[in-house]
Amino acid sequence: MNTKLLIAGFAGTTGLLACAFANDINFDGRDMVEPDCDVMSDWYECRDIETAPAGVYLGYQYMHLTSETLGPDGNTVYADTGEPYVTTVTSCSSCHFSGGQVPFGSPVYQSPSKYTVNPVTGLGPYFRPLGYHRDLEDSIIDCFRNCMNAERAPAKDDPVMIALVEYIQWVADGVIDPAARENWDLLPPEAGPRLPVIDGVSLMRADPIRGGQLYANSCADCHSEDGPGAGEYRVGEPRPRIPALWGDRDGYSKGAAFYRTPVLGAYIQKHMPLDDPMTLSNQDAIDIAAFINAPDKARPSGMADQMYTHDDPDGIPSSLRKPADWLVGFEYPGERAHFESMGIDYEDMILNGPWNDLSQWRSDEINRLLSCSVDLNQDQNLDFFDISAFLDAFVTQAAIADWNSDGNFDFFDVSAFLNAFMRGCP
Ligand code: HEC
Ligand code: HEC
Repeated sequence: MNTKLLIAGFAGTTGLLACAFANDINFDGRDMVEPDCDVMSDWYECRDIETAPAGVYLGYQYMHLTSETLGPDGNTVYADTGEPYVTTVTSCSSCHFSGGQVPFGSPVYQSPSKYTVNPVTGLGPYFRPLGYHRDLEDSIIDCFRNCMNAERAPAKDDPVMIALVEYIQWVADGVIDPAARENWDLLPPEAGPRLPVIDGVSLMRADPIRGGQLYANSCADCHSEDGPGAGEYRVGEPRPRIPALWGDRDGYSKGAAFYRTPVLGAYIQKHMPLDDPMTLSNQDAIDIAAFINAPDKARPSGMADQMYTHDDPDGIPSSLRKPADWLVGFEYPGERAHFESMGIDYEDMILNGPWNDLSQWRSDEINRLLSCSVDLNQDQNLDFFDISAFLDAFVTQAAIADWNSDGNFDFFDVSAFLNAFMRGCP
């Protein structure tokens, strides 16, 4: 293949550099992305994990030294089966850098507040890909299954789960402002609690072939040409030396956030190359990400098939609200055909962009469905009973009454509903 040839060509020129570097790097599995505690000190206090309570320290070991504890080489196993919790050679910290304490590095200091359960409804925030309300434990379970490629995840009262939650709470306690500790929206932007984004990426197009050349140049030294390489697990080491970026066993799954080219691009731009972060241009970053996520790389499916198969609480198929760079899960009927009829390679568009047309098409379709589903009691008649059903929903603030989906229940919803009603949508 073209890509392979190019990689081979580049490996020749970087070989020397690679060797020199390999001698320098501390290959004991402890090289990692660390938080810049001085820069963060206005809002986050880095503390010494060695002085944390025993339960917290245990949770840290599960999160950071995953291979040595929960992994194939560890001695923490499920009580009923004696099987290890994790079979893939990855640490939680391989992605949640420094145990989730690095801005834009999938931190977890926001997580306890983000997953606060509503005292009235007893529900955590709605998680659209799987269509349910989740709490912190659920989000850990999903990561075990989707990021760590585990067939089974610990139950909510499992000792491993309890320690992980205790540790994540300890990380969150490092947030200095008590208000921001309670409400993650108050964290400063530089804390990066959400997935990182590249400005204007929806109009860009990624080139995986060019990405392969760049990968050979600046990533293959460590991650190796064929992905896993230096990430290989070596017995007796607490963490994989360098995590695998693809591969059936060790790569993240097709249901993981990193399988989204712009998300992975933004993440690697912030943190990679490990020895020289923030040097990749926007284009370089998404090109490399597209190379890593290209269809020729083996990768587990994770929970991909279960995603976006349901309707949201307002009746809109969640597949219409999938991020445009999300390849897997349920496909909204007619969508692929629409783009293919224009001569566009649908999957290539989702993997490599530009993503803007797909977002626009979906949002038009959502508006069409919303403005045409005024038969609220579904009796095939448009009549007073539908208006009455709407007003009932409005009073109880049921999701369907947020007609314009702006998160508020106000005059604009009533007006938009009545307008659609007057137009006589079926
Ligand atoms: C000097 C060695 C080195 C180089 C060069 C390097 N990486 Fe990494 N990379 C690492 C290490 C080590 C980690 C794990 C960091 C940790 O555990 O804190 C990592 C982690 C990652 C991760 C997150 C882990 C995961 O499982 O997804 C991604 C993605 C990644 N690197 C991509 C890249 C890309 C793309 C490049 C080239 C632009 C690159 N790296 C260059 C050493 C390197
Ligand atoms: C391949 C990379 C990867 C690995 C390995 C991984 N995670 Fe994640 N995890 C992510 C990403 C990326 C997100 C954020 C997804 C999003 O925001 O949509 C996430 C989300 C989470 C969240 C929710 C964070 C929040 O505030 O929403 C928790 C908690 C979590 N992971 C815990 C873990 C634990 C515990 C492990 C190890 C058993 C683990 N993860 C392994 C990448 C990874």
